[in-house]
Amino acid sequence: MLDEIRQQPEALARTLAGEVRHAGRFRKLLERNRPRLVVLVARGTSDNAAQFGRYLLEITTGIPVSLAAPSIATLYDAPIDYRDTLVVGISQSGESTDTNLVLERARAAGALTLGITNERSSSLARLAEHVFLVRAGRERSVAATKTYTGQILVLYLLAYALGGKVRLADLERIPQLAADSLGLEAEIGALAERYRYMRSAVVVGRGLNYANAFEFALKLMETCYVVAERFSSADFLHGPIALVEPSFPVFAFAPMGVTWPSIGDTLRKLKGLKAEIVAIADPANREVDAMATRVIRLPRPIPEVLTPIPYIVPAQIFAACLAAQKGYDPDHPRTLHKVTLTL
Ligand code: F6R
Repeated sequence: MLDEIRQQPEALARTLAGEVRHAGRFRKLLERNRPRLVVLVARGTSDNAAQFGRYLLEITTGIPVSLAAPSIATLYDAPIDYRDTLVVGISQSGESTDTNLVLERARAAGALTLGITNERSSSLARLAEHVFLVRAGRERSVAATKTYTGQILVLYLLAYALGGKVRLADLERIPQLAADSLGLEAEIGALAERYRYMRSAVVVGRGLNYANAFEFALKLMETCYVVAERFSSADFLHGPIALVEPSFPVFAFAPMGVTWPSIGDTLRKLKGLKAEIVAIADPANREVDAMATRVIRLPRPIPEVLTPIPYIVPAQIFAACLAAQKGYDPDHPRTLHKVTLTL
């Protein structure tokens, strides 16, 4: 897992170089067939990437985006009118049965279909009309890391292809920003030691980093067996904050920008409750220092729109190091396999 985390700058650079021209061609096609709706379908970590995509695509393109509920197709067999809709299947392996079935049905029902996958010759790549490849190289650890950030990068390209306000020159900064985050590995490893006996935790994020809260919690659950709940900082105040008692661990994504007033307000309340807060931030946010017990600080200020990839890397490292601290093998979590077949 740690090796694959470390491969991310190269994987991201390779994916960008390999797919940018494709994004340009797809943009021309979409100019002629602009969808009225985008539906994203995925499971697990790929679904967390889809959650990011939902925010990014709506913010930058104004097109409504929905996350598919696979059971509507796979169990209820309900016909859906997919005219004027772009349906995007996201799957590392390209072999998730329900993701593929939703995409296949949507294509038959008139949708324009796109697959985002790490596997060129997968079922998803065959079923979708168009394909964007995540060029991360084979992912061997059961816990997905480099394919998550690769999927996020491709979703920026999709936003660009849909005419969204995404500048390709900004995307070129992302591999270096991920490399900067890797520089924190020793510091995060030392921090993880303190959490060796952690059994439960909460992760909060908002907006473009809401998906990262899901993904960090998933990594803590599957590799460290920590019961990790995840919330938007707004939802957290609508009830779940009641479970917080002194020293309760809370992890927060805290970039500067439009989401900070909400995250900051939540962290202030949590500090009042004496929660143990670990915040991931960058030098643009100094206000967080007064609220968090500890700050994992990335070395340079990052515009909020570009934070999701560099901000998840420290969380991935934390989960991998904590698993090692607890004596678990994050490459082979108990009960799990690399491909999960569900209906
Ligand atoms: C988590 C993880 C799983 C997969 C999920 C979907 O680290 O790897 O949650 O993300 O099983 O798999 P794919 O992306 O192959 O469809």
